[in-house]
Amino acid sequence: AASVPYEAESAKISQGAVESNHAGYSGTGFVNFDVVTGAYVEFTVDAAQAGPARLDFRYASASADRPLDIAVGGGTVADDLSFPATGAWTTWKTVSVNATLKAGSNTVRATTSGVDGPNLDKLTV
Ligand code: GCU
Repeated sequence: AASVPYEAESAKISQGAVESNHAGYSGTGFVNFDVVTGAYVEFTVDAAQAGPARLDFRYASASADRPLDIAVGGGTVADDLSFPATGAWTTWKTVSVNATLKAGSNTVRATTSGVDGPNLDKLTV
């Protein structure tokens, strides 16, 4: 199936702010997680049919690895998934993880597992 982008700034955000002060993001901005464990961005992804899918998270993190926990439908897919430093807040890279989706609507939640998260631009599925 064709890949579909889901913008972080349009997702459900808990303990994070939509910002646009670092160039190179898609859509109208990105999410800057609050400096707290447990902050999250939750996307709602629609799958035409059940099966495996690759989740591509586009992010920036100037100088530190900022891991996130990834859950689909409330089930952990990746614990402390590494989001390595990109070198600058304007340098955006992609981290991918494989997951199984069910047919229809799926929540994909990215939650800070350290004291802070990367700036999160979008999820592409
Ligand atoms: C800077 C940067 C933010 C970033 C923050 C962080 O303040 O401008 O975009 O989110 O650092 O370290 O998380």
